Amino acid sequence: MKTTVTAKERKPIEHIAFIMDGNGRWAKKRGMPREQGHRFGVKAFQSILEHCRDIGVHTITVYAFSTENWKRPEKEVKSIMRLMDRYLSDFEKNMDRYQMRLCFLGDKAPFDAKLRARMEQMEQASKDRERILNIGFNYGGRDEIVHACNRLIAQGVKEVSEDSISGALYTAASSDPDLIIRTGGDLRISNFMLWQAAYAELYFTDVLWPDFGPAELDAAIEEFYTRQRRYGGV
Ligand code: IPE
Ligand code: IPE
Ligand code: MG
Repeated sequence: MKTTVTAKERKPIEHIAFIMDGNGRWAKKRGMPREQGHRFGVKAFQSILEHCRDIGVHTITVYAFSTENWKRPEKEVKSIMRLMDRYLSDFEKNMDRYQMRLCFLGDKAPFDAKLRARMEQMEQASKDRERILNIGFNYGGRDEIVHACNRLIAQGVKEVSEDSISGALYTAASSDPDLIIRTGGDLRISNFMLWQAAYAELYFTDVLWPDFGPAELDAAIEEFYTRQRRYGGV
């Protein structure tokens, strides 16, 4: 059932998560290599980040590279690693503009030492900030749950609870996402936030990620406010 919440009754959405899909197809349509699609994907991400700040979204999560994306050709993987390194160097210079706490979701072990050090240093430097930006990089929902269980076992925990698992996930500092948006037209979640998505509203659009801008986000938010979230109640 749908009920429209009037503009006055609306609270800003606390947490929006994005499955940023469609970069490769966007490039292919323009006769460009897939890597170019990722470059334009970063630009789209930046404009979405700014829009989220302007409309008061507290937590933003983006899926940038999955545990399964290592299967891609080496050339593409390398170019994504380079792009991330360059993006972080830019972000570092503009840390004050974004005023966000940066959290990487995923095991950093496979990254080269320089990139890993940069990621850790930026998490440390931004850790006291209120608003959160989660970047899923080598992220997989199943990997995250396994990692959380192993962490709890290492702490000597004998029995787990929903709270203890939530607290051991990469997203421990964040609330669960209210809205998950997937661009690129596929109707699946591809191993994203399996635990945290329990009661998220899902929004799918055919728009390819590099074309997803503030107007497209506003349309998704409009749709979100028409949803009635019952959480199993009546
Ligand atoms: C999403 O775009 C970005 C990553 C997975 C790194 P894709 O690269 O999957 O683009 P399509 O789906 O092939 O168009
Ligand atoms: C999901 O996109 C992962 C990211 C957006 C980082 P994929 O392109 O990897 O997903 P599948 O292969 O279509 O499921
Ligand atoms: Mg894809």
